[in-house]
Amino acid sequence: MNNNINQKKQRLLVELCDIQKVFVTNSVETHALCNINLTIQQGEYLAITGPSGCGKSTLLSLLGLLDRKIQGQYRLSGVDVSDLSRDERSKIRNKDIGFIFQAFNLISELTVAENIELPLSYRQDIGKQQRQVLVDESLKKVDMMHRANHFPAQLSGGQQQRVAIARAICGTPSLILADEPTGNLDSKNAQSVMALLDQLHGEGTTICMVTHDSRSANRAQRIIEVFDGKIVADQSTRAIAV
Ligand SMILES: Nc1ncnc2c1ncn2[C@@H]1O[C@H](COP(=O)(O)OP(=O)(O)OP(=O)(O)O)[C@@H](O)[C@H]1O
Ligand SMILES: [Mg+2]
Repeated sequence: MNNNINQKKQRLLVELCDIQKVFVTNSVETHALCNINLTIQQGEYLAITGPSGCGKSTLLSLLGLLDRKIQGQYRLSGVDVSDLSRDERSKIRNKDIGFIFQAFNLISELTVAENIELPLSYRQDIGKQQRQVLVDESLKKVDMMHRANHFPAQLSGGQQQRVAIARAICGTPSLILADEPTGNLDSKNAQSVMALLDQLHGEGTTICMVTHDSRSANRAQRIIEVFDGKIVADQSTRAIAV
């Protein structure tokens, strides 16, 4: 019995308990998140949907430890990360969390390979040689090896997003957070990015993706709907075929 409980606990990656987020601007309060309770299992593929301004990106920022102090409790891999210093948060972020943004957010002065390597360079547990191996592996995974020495401006939008995905996965994070990853792409490039996310999920990566697009959401295993800062629906979809 105890063993069963432990096994279950080990698979739990994210636990959010009674999370609130209030922005105060010029004494106007915006309750961006109210009473959020959410668990995500390791290996799960979760989509977050809801209308503009409902709190999706705020929730993703919080999951990504971009927020200074969290109201409520956030446990990541069983560790309470609700109230950490800036340095502690950066350390966890660098090792355990990979971000993919709508606008790719690549550094224009760095080559593709350098962009991917950058987050690894802040990690003391990965030496230069291993960094090179990891960068090459992730470039191969997103089929961008042939563009390793190009600069972001020399790539198409779809290629830039594939590089951003390589950057997000190269440190083998436990959680990938994607905010509208296909929002700036035409349908063909969007398809290839979604196929790549399917593939990563098939390899065991945990993905949490914000999307407006119901077709993209339906590729996930589970869809959470947010409205006015609250989770109003939490449904399983059919398991994706990979
Ligand atoms: N830094 C901030 N300061 C003040 N208010 C903010 C801030 N960031 C977000 N908000 C407010 O919090 C609410 C939730 O914003 P959020 O960006 O999470 O919405 P969203 O669901 O991601 O919307 P969209 O689909 O348009 O990206 C909005 O009302 C927004 O105006
Ligand atoms: Mg948003």
